[in-house]
Amino acid sequence: MNKSYDLTAFSHEINNSLTLIYSQLQYIEETKDILLQDENWCRMKKDFSSLFDFIRQTLSPSTATSAALEPQDLISIFEEIRSSWSHQFNDKHIQFFIQAEPKESYYVYGSKPKLLQMFHNLISNAVKAIERRNDTGKSPSITVHLSKEQGHIVLNLSDTGIGMTKEQQQRAFYRGVSFIPAGNGIGLSVVHEIADELQIKIHMDSAINQGTTFTLIFPAREYTESMPV
Ligand SMILES: Nc1ncnc2c1ncn2[C@@H]1O[C@H](COP(=O)(O)OP(=O)(O)OP(=O)(O)O)[C@@H](O)[C@H]1O
Ligand SMILES: [Mg+2]
Repeated sequence: MNKSYDLTAFSHEINNSLTLIYSQLQYIEETKDILLQDENWCRMKKDFSSLFDFIRQTLSPSTATSAALEPQDLISIFEEIRSSWSHQFNDKHIQFFIQAEPKESYYVYGSKPKLLQMFHNLISNAVKAIERRNDTGKSPSITVHLSKEQGHIVLNLSDTGIGMTKEQQQRAFYRGVSFIPAGNGIGLSVVHEIADELQIKIHMDSAINQGTTFTLIFPAREYTESMPV
């Protein structure tokens, strides 16, 4: 990977995080509560801290990779994501569902900042796809479904957005390819890079005006079952 390539991805991730923080700031501006008692203020501080983590990891990738292999609870990561995006979901009337077996745990090995960046990119695309869908027939939603298949954790992230043509699907993961006005075409290439690094297989299924589903298959780990609950 060359330096300019890295820098583009780096700027993209900063931009993503700043967009999230900005939407939280807007919300806080509308409230009269004392900041430190405001959960949004605390959330904003958490997002800043995730951004700093990401910057640190990007600046020293070799240490990041070895330090990264810690068990991460996908359910709590998606609860965090729900919280980060809650204002946008509310504004755009998007329902967000996390579906999983009640007593099951879904731990994967990886770096939390990288998993967060990957999921933020997918959610950001899903939100944009929902906004671009013209018909109002179906109530807009994003669903994260977790399951276990033959020792693998399988994550399906579906949206009820505008969907993609077959031709768009073939090119969507290439860097610089975007089908929306003002899109940079970086998000999915970053998703692909992180998935490669964490040995996650990705599959995409989409249909115009039906929606899109990304399936992520995490590597099987024998010690997954003994992770903390
Ligand atoms: N969930 C989705 N539903 C419909 N189209 C999608 C979805 N995810 C990605 N796409 C399409 O794939 C293209 C590439 O996505 P990618 O995230 O790489 O770039 P972008 O969203 O256009 O810009 P950026 O992420 O850099 O801001 C998008 O422009 C969009 O057309
Ligand atoms: Mg994107």
